[in-house]
Amino acid sequence: MTTLLSKDAKDDLLERGYSRRQLGRVSALLGLQAVAASSALAVPGRAALATTTPTIAGSKPDKAGMIRIGSNECWTGPFPKAAAAGAAMVQHGNRYEPGDLRQTLIANVSAVEQVPISHILPWPGSSDPLARTVVTFCSPGRGLVTADPTFEEAWKVGEYLKIKVTRVPLRPENRYAVDVRAMVAADPNAGLYYVCSPNNPTGTITPLADIAWLVENKPAGSMVLVDEAYLHFAGAPSAAYLVAQNKDVVVLRTFSKIFGMAGLRLGLSMARPDLHARMMRYDGQMQSGALSVVALATGGTGVLLASDIAARRQEMIEVRQATMAHLASRGLHTLPSDANMFMVDWQKPAAQMKTAFAARQIDIGRSWPIWPTRSRITVGSASDMKAFCAATDSIMV
Ligand SMILES: Cc1ncc(COP(=O)(O)O)c(C=O)c1O
Repeated sequence: MTTLLSKDAKDDLLERGYSRRQLGRVSALLGLQAVAASSALAVPGRAALATTTPTIAGSKPDKAGMIRIGSNECWTGPFPKAAAAGAAMVQHGNRYEPGDLRQTLIANVSAVEQVPISHILPWPGSSDPLARTVVTFCSPGRGLVTADPTFEEAWKVGEYLKIKVTRVPLRPENRYAVDVRAMVAADPNAGLYYVCSPNNPTGTITPLADIAWLVENKPAGSMVLVDEAYLHFAGAPSAAYLVAQNKDVVVLRTFSKIFGMAGLRLGLSMARPDLHARMMRYDGQMQSGALSVVALATGGTGVLLASDIAARRQEMIEVRQATMAHLASRGLHTLPSDANMFMVDWQKPAAQMKTAFAARQIDIGRSWPIWPTRSRITVGSASDMKAFCAATDSIMV
């Protein structure tokens, strides 16, 4: 397999024990050649690349007509003021850089998060920096440790690159927080410890004190990755202060969730410049450097809208509480959640329930092997969730 990796990137990977065959895989993973990454890498919930080419006029979104509470998207689009800023950029789309949109986004994030400008990089979503972090800090000799269940992308990248992947159960006795001490004990020689907080699929938070403990007690030379994709839905404090303190930590954010921009593609990584430099050596900065001006303008405006963010969070919380109360009234057990998703236990195979909901035009979330009778439910709009409750009643007669 040929690869476009630079000599520096190749030397780095070979030095850390990757084989020549794995170089091709790294290259495919980070989009550096025409060879598409293996379909084994597709993240569940994402559509595969279309095999037909619909015209714009005749195109239909996949799952057309369905109530979509399966992919943890926001039930609505960007905040109106942010959408207006993005729309205004469309007519300037003839320019690679119609203004200083990238720098404005970074400056706005810096002001909100109290993290230096030098420590912030934007991306087309957070999937790329998530995969890239595994490549950068893990190797055939230094594995990946995550919670179980958690967002599977890191697992898939690890398995694709034949890196040791260790999964550690959540702590039911501690509101399903990630068990950071058990993670270090499970692999004291890992290269990367991944903490998703709030966790996908449970929506539960891991206390910052635990994350700080992990950063202080992980093995030398390893890194902590904190994925805060759902943080705004929880209104919880961020681990970004550890980035500002120049610790061994990378914090990820996405605009795909509360900012309603999943299809517009924008994400962030926050880390010390030397860590970012290591992450960036594989592709000459193209992925972070060439972003859609519409996404940059929408995200750069949205990030400042604190009261809109709080109002959207509150709307979600009320709908989540009403939905969970309805399920409880039917004797269905749900796990606690701080984000726009929760796990419900059907006491029967979750795959069977997904099919039953699909027959009623409702796309619910997937299940995880560790919990085969539980499904992840995304909190949609009030009317989405009313329909979900009615469908639950008709299925669970
Ligand atoms: C925990 C978590 N991290 C990262 C992502 C990646 O999202 P995106 O690439 O849209 O930013 C997702 C998407 O569902 C997620 O749930």
